[in-house]
Amino acid sequence: MAPESGLSRRGLLGGGALALGAGLAGAGLGWGAGSATASSDAVAIGGERVPFFGPHQAGITTDPQSFATFVGLDLRAGSDRESLTRILRLWTEDAGRLTQGRPALADREPELADAPWRLTVTVGLGPGAFVGLADKRPEWLRPLPAFPIDAFDVRWPGTDLVLQVCADDPMAAAHAVRVLTKNVCSMAALTWVQRGFRGTRPAGVTMRNLMGQVDGTVQPAPIDHDALVWDDGAAQPWLKGGTSLVLRRIRMEMDTWDEVDTPLRNLVLGREQTSGAPLTGSAERDAPDFTATDANGIIVIPPASHIARAHRRTDREQFLRRAYNYDDPPPPGETSDTGLLFATYQQDVDAQFLPVQQRLAEQDALNEWTTPVGSAVYVILPGAQPGGYLGQSLLED
Ligand code: HEM
Repeated sequence: MAPESGLSRRGLLGGGALALGAGLAGAGLGWGAGSATASSDAVAIGGERVPFFGPHQAGITTDPQSFATFVGLDLRAGSDRESLTRILRLWTEDAGRLTQGRPALADREPELADAPWRLTVTVGLGPGAFVGLADKRPEWLRPLPAFPIDAFDVRWPGTDLVLQVCADDPMAAAHAVRVLTKNVCSMAALTWVQRGFRGTRPAGVTMRNLMGQVDGTVQPAPIDHDALVWDDGAAQPWLKGGTSLVLRRIRMEMDTWDEVDTPLRNLVLGREQTSGAPLTGSAERDAPDFTATDANGIIVIPPASHIARAHRRTDREQFLRRAYNYDDPPPPGETSDTGLLFATYQQDVDAQFLPVQQRLAEQDALNEWTTPVGSAVYVILPGAQPGGYLGQSLLED
């Protein structure tokens, strides 16, 4: 039982609250005049907002925020199109407010809403959400094939729904996750929560992962970007402006990675750990030369290195990588539970992502120190228009 507090509930509801207010005011901490300064400071810090409405959902091409929480939910038994509609309407309403620094409807902690810290809420559907909508399900929306490198943990399955909540401060993300999940809990149950971080960096500086590598350098060129990321509605007209998310939870084997010296680490990746430059260049953004040889005729970037294997073989084999690090409490007896929430966005999982993943599963020097422990594929809904809701084109056309 909690220790008895000196302030009883009855005392606070009676004269106690007034006395407490007066006491704090006397100490220069009062509610009233002083609080205006406190709250305007709070808005100035963390007040930056990312628009919620538009042709695409935010949180994909948004410059990655420092923190992300991915939440996987499953629809409750007996769910139908109507319950899915209710969930998506609620999420649109709540996310439309929270991302703009306004409390959600029936927000019990409205004080936490005024500093959104570039909060974005991105909503996706797994294969199981297409109940009664089978003809609208994109061809590629199914679990990835099993790969020999996979060692899945039952804690991280694919789910019917996913929320990706990103912000530059964990408070903003935590409040949004709480509001969004509790408001739909009669219709969808929470299956997992995966939290990640990128570290605070100046704009335009690529993040590092917890293996120490500069991670996220090579991305689809801006010129091809739209065609590679956003759906054009050709196969499923309702999906125009949407995309797909592949979320792989990939554990890093930190104890054995510790034993690898820097020169070998560089060969495993095909880039220098310190600068992020390809082994054939001197700066991070230099294009790797996969055919260059040294004085002895040996290929400089080993063909089995991660970047040599991952590099596109065709223009179509490209996708947007927006990974987050995770570092959870280790299980008893182990030293770490560390890795990547490896998130990619592409128009077509089968055409763009799968060939690269297949090639890496066949051979990639990095595989010795990384293990996929979870995997899920989602369709990311097109953006919502003001007055409309996420998923409207799927559910109403
Ligand atoms: C824990 C697992 C992984 C780690 C630590 C990792 C790390 C890295 C690093 C440090 C780079 C070089 C810098 C950059 O361009 O970002 C890179 C490049 C890349 N990675 Fe990974 N990666 C992982 C898993 C994957 C997976 C599963 C895929 C795809 C299925 C993938 C696809 C790529 C691609 C396409 C590139 C760019 C290759 C190029 O064209 O140069 N990575 N990765």
